[in-house]
Amino acid sequence: MSFGDSKAIISNQDGIHEKLEEVVQKHLSHTFEKPYSQHTLTVFNSLDEEVKSFSGEVILDACCGVGQSTRILAKRNPDALVIGVDKSANRIERNVDEHIDESLANLPNVRLVRADLNDFYRLVAQANWPIKQHFILYPNPWPKSKHLQRRWHGSAVFPQILSIGERIELRSNWPLYLEEFNAGATIVGGFDTILGEVSDEEPITPFEAKYRASGQVCYQLVLTRR
Ligand SMILES: C[S@@+](CC[C@H](N)C(=O)[O-])C[C@H]1O[C@@H](n2cnc3c(N)ncnc32)[C@H](O)[C@@H]1O
Repeated sequence: MSFGDSKAIISNQDGIHEKLEEVVQKHLSHTFEKPYSQHTLTVFNSLDEEVKSFSGEVILDACCGVGQSTRILAKRNPDALVIGVDKSANRIERNVDEHIDESLANLPNVRLVRADLNDFYRLVAQANWPIKQHFILYPNPWPKSKHLQRRWHGSAVFPQILSIGERIELRSNWPLYLEEFNAGATIVGGFDTILGEVSDEEPITPFEAKYRASGQVCYQLVLTRR
């Protein structure tokens, strides 16, 4: 299976989307009421008790793909509970030997689940999970201008996304995605933000590895709640 196109993003948009403010304001003023999928609800319920009774840090790795970053974060934070979420069963469940060396296998503080984040985020926000760090690494960029609402900051769940985590980190090879997410967060307010190049020496996800191998720069946006 391929990890996507490693070519630089081509978009018909050359700046922050003109409708960003309108879209974010619409989502701030309307409650997202689509019913939860049963599968995601079951997965959320299976973790809810453990998360609420956990005494250490809880870290959420959203769009975790095969979970390489989830495991690396768990190794770096052995006292934390690290939850990786992806909607793709193929990525969550398949053999990931190629990305997971022995030092990352069988870490006791990793939970990898298949769930739709459009539902999972709302459940986490509603339950007020005490998430310390929230990662969204290389979300699908949806570079066509008409697809703004498929980007996380254009989605109906953006208010809940921003309510999760004392620190939120996004990474992308398309800096405009991060600039736009940041602009959306500024509309909502309450964050200090830093946007720059990824500082990790070694890639922490397969997409990051692939972009770097093709000579692209990877960027990170860090939002810290004031
Ligand atoms: C470009 S991949 C990045 C995967 C991984 N973070 C990496 O860097 O290798 C984006 C991932 O987001 C997941 N994803 C997209 N929409 C999602 C949703 N609504 N709920 C859960 N996962 C989603 C996809 O299944 C995919 O694995």
